[in-house]
Amino acid sequence: MHPDGKSILLSEEAIRARVREMGEELSRDYEGKEILCVGILKGAMIFLADLVRYIRVPAFFDFIAVTSYGASSESSGAVRILKDLDRSIQGRHVLIVEDIIDSGLTLNYLVENLKSREPASLKICTLLDKPSRRKAPVEINYNGFPIPDEFVVGYGLDYNEHYRNLPYIMVLNPAVYQKGDKHVFI
Ligand code: IMP
Ligand code: MG
Repeated sequence: MHPDGKSILLSEEAIRARVREMGEELSRDYEGKEILCVGILKGAMIFLADLVRYIRVPAFFDFIAVTSYGASSESSGAVRILKDLDRSIQGRHVLIVEDIIDSGLTLNYLVENLKSREPASLKICTLLDKPSRRKAPVEINYNGFPIPDEFVVGYGLDYNEHYRNLPYIMVLNPAVYQKGDKHVFI
């Protein structure tokens, strides 16, 4: 394990097995349709790349990048779009692909925003879910792993842009973000 980790939460093998199951479930649910996967940058990039390879119906992708307003360490709920989708989603079956749902504020905003663009359907697929942290309601259709309230990194998830390329998901040692020599937005 990386020396900044406290423990491995999900091994490469555990992630792969669950992502495969999720892809198979999506393939059944969307039989006869096309899925437009909307990945939320940057965290969901690795999950999306792996997931679509287990989807057996035509899958298209687009990406959106968002940020919370303000410099507070807690998400305020006000979300700003940094990079919007390339194309219209009107009439498409849209699947939002997210790395982790924490307070739910980001997804709550995005769902309302994307709904107003009149997709044929809109569902949410997340790899990780921290249900104990929820502040805004989010209806999750595909949920990889519910996890406890601990700060995790790897497999796309970062701390200050670090650790995204780890192939597993580990709990970050709190000493790393308690050093105070970095800006923390968690
Ligand atoms: P929220 O649901 O609006 O609070 O925000 C979800 C976003 O917060 C995710 O897309 C991540 O970027 C970030 N986040 C929340 N918890 C973690 C974590 O444990 N590790 C890394 N990023 C996290
Ligand atoms: Mg993120």
